[in-house]
Amino acid sequence: MSYHTLLTDQQNDILTITVNRPEVLNALNKNVLMDLHEVLTRYYEDTSVRGIILTGSGAKSFVAGADIAEITTLDAETAMLFSTTGQKLFDAIEQYPKPILAAVNGFALGGGCELAMACHLRVASENASFGQPEINLGIIPGYGGTQRLPRLIGKTKAVELLLTGDRISAEEALALGLVNKVVSAKHLMETANEMMQKILTKSSLAIRYIMDAVNAHYDPTRDGYGTEIHNFVHSCISDDGREGTQAFVEKRKPTFTGK
Ligand code: COA
Repeated sequence: MSYHTLLTDQQNDILTITVNRPEVLNALNKNVLMDLHEVLTRYYEDTSVRGIILTGSGAKSFVAGADIAEITTLDAETAMLFSTTGQKLFDAIEQYPKPILAAVNGFALGGGCELAMACHLRVASENASFGQPEINLGIIPGYGGTQRLPRLIGKTKAVELLLTGDRISAEEALALGLVNKVVSAKHLMETANEMMQKILTKSSLAIRYIMDAVNAHYDPTRDGYGTEIHNFVHSCISDDGREGTQAFVEKRKPTFTGK
């Protein structure tokens, strides 16, 4: 299946999704959001894909924000739709049952920073930069940036970045805990793949239970500790839980099936 605004490439059990609008630095328009929704739905239950890497086309930009040309045309009704559709999609990324890693290969601004923040992990190239410059346009983030940025880096620095619109380098993002790793542009995809491959040697079920329990902490409608207990119990009595603990006792490598 092909998408208008995305490239996809599956190597073994890792799917790489590339936002492909290089002429506008991969800005997110309606079509990108629709395509992302479609591709994530397509692979939700497809067991041939166990992890996803999300990146941007070209050497310069991950995603330089929501498409400003589209924003100029919004009225109250369409602005509401713009924000709710984006929030819903980014929530779905955060709640996705398979790990999604953003390989940030350049500008991650506005909606691009919000998209990277919705992913479970972020690896950045040295030339990457991050920011929420919406304030410079007289608007505010609408895809969860006011919520996820303080959650990831703390309120003090988040409010500074949101109010100044300043861009920060990959190294600063690393120091703030916004990204997991910074590597040279040349090694970005290799590092992203290595990190994902390492994760995918673990039990898919345990991966899912962990991400669900972590997400529960940040969801005011859910009980984080209660979710941890529930998921812990289910991991213990799962095939993978039995296999992993038994393999340790028998001094052998476990073979996980995701069940
Ligand atoms: N929406 C729509 N188009 C965008 C865009 C966006 N978010 N970001 C960049 N583009 C377009 C530019 O308009 C330009 O198009 P053109 O060649 O037809 O003029 C093209 O992408 C290249 O961008 P340009 O500004 O020439 O590149 P640059 O290297 O000089 O600057 C940025 C790069 C990212 C600093 C600059 O493009 C920018 O500030 N973009 C907007 C970032 C932003 O505010 N994002 C939040 C949006 S809510």
